[in-house]
Formats: sequence, structure tokens, C-alpha cells
Amino acid sequence: MAQLVAGSTHAWAGDDLPPDVRLRPALYEEETAVSALRRACGWSAETVAQQFRNMRDGRREIWIAECDGYLVGTCTVEWLADDSHLADGRTRAHISNLVVHPTYRRRGIGKGLMVAVERAAGRRGCAVITIGVDRGNNYARALYEQRGYSYVKDIHAPWGLVHILQRRLA
Ligand SMILES: CC(C)(COP(=O)(O)OP(=O)(O)OC[C@H]1O[C@@H](n2cnc3c(N)ncnc32)[C@H](O)[C@@H]1OP(=O)(O)O)[C@@H](O)C(=O)NCCC(=O)NCCS
Repeated sequence: MAQLVAGSTHAWAGDDLPPDVRLRPALYEEETAVSALRRACGWSAETVAQQFRNMRDGRREIWIAECDGYLVGTCTVEWLADDSHLADGRTRAHISNLVVHPTYRRRGIGKGLMVAVERAAGRRGCAVITIGVDRGNNYARALYEQRGYSYVKDIHAPWGLVHILQRRLA
């Protein structure tokens, strides 16, 4: 089951999100909850400690979706990445680590998390937002293309080929 979260909640004013879902930045003390969620989704939690270090350093924000007091989804938005074409600390930001608990999929939560971090990037003055999708992950790619992202390049990650997509922010 998804992990219980510790923090207070903020109502999300997005288009299609179910009313019982709340989106907000993660708290520092929620590292264990985010790790448990990733494992519950069948994904490694290896990168979570680094994600939280980056959050403390101001290099990224971690966002979470909660429902009924449980953490059911997460993603991060990187302000600064090693590849400045993805996130350069100023005009470009990069979405990564998007995952929704299998029980809660197809309810608009993945889209809602994207909208939330796109807005956060817009508030920081970013003009472009990028996202990576593993080759063959057609569901995720369909979600990104629905949101107006289009292909820009491939990168070779340690686990295989990743397609980079991007869109402009209003
Ligand atoms: C990709 C993922 C985050 C989507 O989360 P979600 O909350 O189910 O997404 P949403 O409900 O917002 O779906 C939005 C759109 O994505 C597409 N989509 C998502 N899951 C889909 C599926 N199983 N089959 C077909 N289309 C799908 C659809 O276009 C959908 O729009 P629709 O419901 O109007 O048809 C989720 O499936 C997941 O966690 N997958 C495993 C991790 C992963 O692949 N992350 C992406 C890394 S690049």
C-alpha cells in the first residue's frame, strides 16, 4: 500500500484532478515515504536520497500527490542538471522521476503532477521545460505529447535510450 505522508496539504486548482487528491512540495522528512512509494510501484528507490540532497541544495523540488492521507504519486523538477540543455538554473527546467501508484493510475494524477511542476517552473521564470521518457514507454510518452511536449533528442542513459521531449511555458 502507498505510504502515509507527514505533511499538511494544499488544495490543487487543476482541471481534471479528482477532488480527493492533493499536490504539494514534499517535506524533507518524507524521504522514507517517497522511497516506499517507488518500491511499491516496482521501481528502485536508489536515487531518492540524491533527490532529497538536491532539494536541500536548491537544485530541484520534489512534488507529491496524496490521497486519503497516503502518498500515491511523485515527481521532481530539476532547476539545474548536469546537461544544461535539460535544466540550466535559469530558463530551462527538467521533469524527472514521475511515478503514480498502480492502484491510483488513470485518474489524472500523473497529469496533475506535471501541471503542478510546470506552474512552479513558470513562477521561477523558466521558458522551456523538458522531460525524458525511456524508449518503449508509450503510455508515458502519450501523456507528455498530450500536454504539448515534442521530441528534441535522444540521450544514452546507463539503463538505455531515453527520448527527451520539451515544451514552452506560457
Ligand atoms: C506514466 C504514469 C506516471 C501516468 O500516471 P497516471 O496518473 O496514470 O496518468 P494520468 O491518469 O494523468 O493519464 C494521463 C494520460 O496518460 C496516458 N496514459 C497513462 N497511462 C496509460 C495507460 N495505461 N494506457 C494508455 N494510456 C495511458 C493517457 O493518454 C492518459 O490520458 P487519458 O486517461 O485521458 O486517456 C504512470 O502510468 C506510471 O507511474 N507509470 C510507471 C512509471 C513511469 O513510467 N513513469 C514515467 C517515466 S518517463
